[in-house]
Amino acid sequence: MKAGVFDSGVGGLTVLKSILDANMFDEIIYYGDTARVPYGVKDEQTIIRFSLEALDFFATHQVDILIIACNTVSAYAIDVMKKHTSIPIVGVIEPGVQALKNKISNKDDPILVIATKATIASKQYQNKLQLNGYTSIQSLATGLFVPIVEEGIEDENILKASMQYYFSSIKQTPQAIILGCTHFPLIAPSIEKFFAHKSILIHSGEAIIDYLWKNYQIAPNTTSKQAKLDLYASSDVLALQKTAHKWLGINF
Ligand code: DGL
Repeated sequence: MKAGVFDSGVGGLTVLKSILDANMFDEIIYYGDTARVPYGVKDEQTIIRFSLEALDFFATHQVDILIIACNTVSAYAIDVMKKHTSIPIVGVIEPGVQALKNKISNKDDPILVIATKATIASKQYQNKLQLNGYTSIQSLATGLFVPIVEEGIEDENILKASMQYYFSSIKQTPQAIILGCTHFPLIAPSIEKFFAHKSILIHSGEAIIDYLWKNYQIAPNTTSKQAKLDLYASSDVLALQKTAHKWLGINF
């Protein structure tokens, strides 16, 4: 089975890593729109237009399923994309909500959603969580985390200052934090530490593995060998390969 994985840039590599580790597909095509990242500060129509262009790219690669490894695209473009193709398209928001449901049974537990400006503005997570009965949801657009990850800034003080800036308004330690941007798993250890390891973190990549099994019967470890992986980017594919190697140890 051949899967397409789409992100606005490099963040989706965290989802790609989970999918690779789960050995679910024979072949994976990753496409990052690195020429036009970030999507998280753009308006709805632009996000939809870029996403439909990505769909044209995947149409030429004949994938069996398309995984949207970007919360921002998942928030705005999936319904429109589905109207333009018969390929199954799976985003990361619904899997994230399902993963949270599996971990948090007390509906009054404080839940924090962090994501890009666009994802938070879409209210997709907040509405789905509310529909599932959760009563204490706080959402924060934490856009600064995206360039910190992209720049590979390892100076803990910069990240700490950004976390302080965004999280100082939080009164109650969250029981769970939805990492609603695929860049954020790369700073997950620092976020965990900030909240004194008292919060459960929900990661889009981990969430989608379970979701693909439950909803599409695509089981982990269906293949015994590593998937054939091809990386594509709308700008500087070598930089994307380097990031994949540096962050995730993926070799080409
Ligand atoms: N990876 C994107 C997401 O999950 C965020 C980066 C961007 O703004 O394009 O929303």
